[in-house]
Amino acid sequence: MKTILTGIRANSVLTLGNYLGAMLPMVKLANKYSKEGCNVNIFVPDLHSIISEVDGDLRENILRTIKYYLAAGLEVNENVHIYRQSYVPAHSELCWILNCNTTMGEASRMTQYKEKSEGKASSNVGIFDYPVLMAADILLYSAEYVPLGEDQFQHIELTRNIAERFNNKYGEVFVVPVSTKEQVEFMGVEKPIRIRDLVNPEKKMSKSTASENAKIMLDDEPLKATKKIMSATTDSFEDIEFDFETRPGISNLLYIEALATGVPLSEVVQKWQGISRYGDLKKQVANTVSELLVEFQRRMTEISDDEVLRLLSEGEKYANEVANAKLLEVQKAVGLR
Ligand code: TYM
Repeated sequence: MKTILTGIRANSVLTLGNYLGAMLPMVKLANKYSKEGCNVNIFVPDLHSIISEVDGDLRENILRTIKYYLAAGLEVNENVHIYRQSYVPAHSELCWILNCNTTMGEASRMTQYKEKSEGKASSNVGIFDYPVLMAADILLYSAEYVPLGEDQFQHIELTRNIAERFNNKYGEVFVVPVSTKEQVEFMGVEKPIRIRDLVNPEKKMSKSTASENAKIMLDDEPLKATKKIMSATTDSFEDIEFDFETRPGISNLLYIEALATGVPLSEVVQKWQGISRYGDLKKQVANTVSELLVEFQRRMTEISDDEVLRLLSEGEKYANEVANAKLLEVQKAVGLR
């Protein structure tokens, strides 16, 4: 039985980028594959959260993040497992063993580490070790498919390298996740998804960007989100074309429209191509996003903490069983047991 696994950190309210780039695609895959008998693991990497500042109360953020999945349409059945990383101690334990099988060079090359530590006199060791813990999250459950946004793809490659090296040294212990190319195919998209910053579309939309207008948060008033889209940076060409290289702002809006409506990107592009009224496209996208937020925020109010806690307690029982069995295999392979 194949395993699909993914996680989103719970540091704050999520952005539309997290939602369209990772949460919605995962929910669609989860609903499809769990019914076909695959395991679907959705977890909150709460230990990854504390590498940087947490906005508000972490415990509340964790429950809210699980509610996001449910509000996004996740259908829970016996193959869907929802858990918190810190409730499964095997993650930290395996991370240590993987640390001893990861080179400083590999970990130092991770773009996210470089970006997060750039310009800082000193940054914490957790930021550096973050991708190795992520590898442990994946390898403990023998997950082959790990749906993620573009910024996380380098960490899949690292996970594959660590797993292959470990298997060569100690025997076939880990299932190696499929290549990033196959991950993208599995997600059913042409390229890894990267929703851009609305003010500076060269960058990804990120919760850590200071400018409020650059990002849409999932708890934004729909009217506020509308205004942000209407003022989004476009370009100085005369008509609409989809090309992230030369027209990142307009392409981002087309991409948001496609992902938020579920209409294939090619159809959205075909509809708007050659049209010169950027304002019309902006109005359309603003309307789509506003409707999405109204519906999403309404669904959020219908999910109780009790329901989430019940799912977590079931999921954590399952996760501990699977993770402890794999950890024991690893411990035996390296001679600790
Ligand atoms: P995190 O919490 O930074 O991001 C969560 C997911 O959202 C995606 N994402 C985006 N996608 C498209 N456009 C954007 N602008 C955008 N911004 C964020 C990210 O690519 C990601 O998929 N390391 C992970 C959490 C993690 C994890 C794991 C995931 C820890 N262990 C094991 C999978 C498997 C992270 O920090 O995601």
